[in-house]
Amino acid sequence: MTEDRKERQRDMYRAPDPAEGPLTTDQGVAVDHTDDSLTVGERGPTLMEDFHFREKLTHFDHERIPERVVHARGAGAYGYFEPYESCAEFTRAAFLQDPSVRTPVFVRFSTVQGPRGSADTVRDVRGFATKFYTSEGNYDLVGNNMPVFFIQDGIKFPDFVHALKPEPQNDIPTGASAHDTLWDFVSLQPETMHMMMWLMSDRAIPRSYRMMQGFGVHTFRFVDAQGRGTFVKFHWKPKLGVHSLVWDEAQECQGRDPDFNRRDLWEAIEAGQYPEYELGVQLIPEEDEFNFDVDLLDATKIIPEEQVPVRPIGHMVLNRNPDNFFAETEQVAFHTANVVPGIDFTNDPLLQARNFSYLDTQLIRLGGPNFAQLPVNQPVTPARTNQRDGYHQSMIHKGTNYSPNSLGGGCPALAGADGYAFSHYAERVEGHKIRKRSESFKDFYSQAALFWNSMSDWERRHIVDAFRFELGKVGAVHVRERTVGQLAQVDYDLASQVAQGIGVALPEPGANNHKPQASPALSLDNLQGDGS
Ligand code: HEM
Repeated sequence: MTEDRKERQRDMYRAPDPAEGPLTTDQGVAVDHTDDSLTVGERGPTLMEDFHFREKLTHFDHERIPERVVHARGAGAYGYFEPYESCAEFTRAAFLQDPSVRTPVFVRFSTVQGPRGSADTVRDVRGFATKFYTSEGNYDLVGNNMPVFFIQDGIKFPDFVHALKPEPQNDIPTGASAHDTLWDFVSLQPETMHMMMWLMSDRAIPRSYRMMQGFGVHTFRFVDAQGRGTFVKFHWKPKLGVHSLVWDEAQECQGRDPDFNRRDLWEAIEAGQYPEYELGVQLIPEEDEFNFDVDLLDATKIIPEEQVPVRPIGHMVLNRNPDNFFAETEQVAFHTANVVPGIDFTNDPLLQARNFSYLDTQLIRLGGPNFAQLPVNQPVTPARTNQRDGYHQSMIHKGTNYSPNSLGGGCPALAGADGYAFSHYAERVEGHKIRKRSESFKDFYSQAALFWNSMSDWERRHIVDAFRFELGKVGAVHVRERTVGQLAQVDYDLASQVAQGIGVALPEPGANNHKPQASPALSLDNLQGDGS
């Protein structure tokens, strides 16, 4: 099935064609003059009764909405996804069953730290968020261009973002990640080290959104028609390969063309050079959960591809630019909890926090509880809910709206047990209520070292230069020193090159002042430790 249901739906929401009639007010009354306000005489005061003037100004005064608290700057495109073959062996998700079915998608790429008007080519993580408009409702894969994250538990996210964002007293800096608060946080939270290695690498200055990988980061769960779960990690690979700018180019682009990445995406699509990405999965049978030397629930770790190869399952093509940046790219609302039957969560504490945070933030960003009715957010399947009223309600519901209900009318029937409805994976969970992270999360350096060791000489030079540039801007000497101390746990040579560049002392070789106790071998017992 190749008909694009999303495109057909968008047609229903297009504003009237300006060529087909005169300018009107919001009430549809034709306007013959829009350049002069209604005044008393040619030089007199403006009259309150000029409803066209007041409506025009009032609407303009209310044009802005809050920007996203993170990932404020982005660029989006529509396209489609096609699976290569049926994935029924692992998941019952309808859009992953039939290679002849095209699922419409909307993708938004973004930077994380800068405000909506900041430059594209800053050193930063890039968001890679995909909304699949599937025949069973919307599925959002809200990923980044790096496979790990800074923190392990979402309760630290506000602290991390406060440290990352411009400093509260002067709103400096914008764009770059170089300032005291970020490095203070990082040096005090060694779980950030792996991601900081990625952030200081060329991955953080992609040449193009068309040449960038995407990762779901967390371990998710596929669920098949029999209810069997399989752990899954998602990977997007660009068909054009992965390419980065070098730092000098990135800086020049910031000055010459702050829209470098969004312009590239827009122009490529306009020119018919459609960006294409392959979706791959790493699949881990549930019985292998504890067979790795990292915890699958720890979002600061990868599962090396040598251990679990990435299996390509489909591809995505972005072939249409949005008609309206605000209506579509700005108002799109992604949410990790938007899942469809066949895709479920794990207990990754970062994912669990995200499952709360996105809906919560969108309630304020998009002005109330009805943003799922916005065209870009609407599923292509009918949404029949008992939710009513609220700001910006644009549906006219008829009948009653509660369940159970013997009066008939508005309340839709519940889906039958025919496998169509979403049912949560019946994971068995028990334990004491505690605030304590498992010991299996506590090796902060091995994969940071793995990353460093996998780099070529020139990639290492770029990483050292990036650390020197960013840390060289940190005023607090003890923060510089502590960060170098952390780097010494990753690789002593890296730390010593950085220390030389920023004029701080290096800890004694082998000094272990920042290293936590080595993690005990993973086992069911210590992973389910409840602190007692
Ligand atoms: C956007 C929270 C971690 C990827 C956002 C937004 C919030 C948020 C509040 C703004 C959403 C909006 O206004 O619509 C969090 C929290 C996290 C977290 C609390 C950790 C606990 C992550 C991670 C990833 C990620 C690990 C990647 C795997 C994104 C992306 C967007 C986003 C791509 C932009 C979506 C768009 O283009 O509209 N996040 N985030 N976030 N986040 Fe996260």
